[in-house]
Amino acid sequence: MAKVVLIVVLALEWLGAKEGILAQKCAVCHQNDAPPLGRIYRRYLMLYSSKERIKKRMVDFLVSPSLQKSAMPLGMRKRFDPQAHPSFSSSIARQAVEELIAKEDILKHIVVDQ
Ligand code: HEC
Repeated sequence: MAKVVLIVVLALEWLGAKEGILAQKCAVCHQNDAPPLGRIYRRYLMLYSSKERIKKRMVDFLVSPSLQKSAMPLGMRKRFDPQAHPSFSSSIARQAVEELIAKEDILKHIVVDQ
């Protein structure tokens, strides 16, 4: 029995590791009712322009969410409550934001003409 439990736990951990933090911790909301992370990323990109600043702002929000830290437009802040956002440890938040930037980075899609 213990062996079966161990195998199931290891299998779940393996699946989790493969899926990444965004899929494990964020997709449950952001693929359903919450605004898609791609759109949120582009909003942060428009406001803060540098990856370092985006990282800092997003991680700061995710570690201790508040209305003042929210970068979303007023209408969105009225519809959803940024203060009710779940908070995460700084290590989870940093991993999630790194993953998001790697996934959504628009520079990868820009073609440089010779
Ligand atoms: C319980 C549902 C839920 C989970 C889980 C969740 N989010 Fe959100 N998230 C929301 C909602 C709703 C909003 C829109 C309201 C707001 O701005 O906070 C939001 C907004 C955001 C914002 C914009 C914050 C702002 O206002 O500037 C970021 C960035 C974000 N989420 C990242 C994440 C990441 C990364 C994860 C996983 C580590 C995550 N969220 C997990 C529901 C969730």
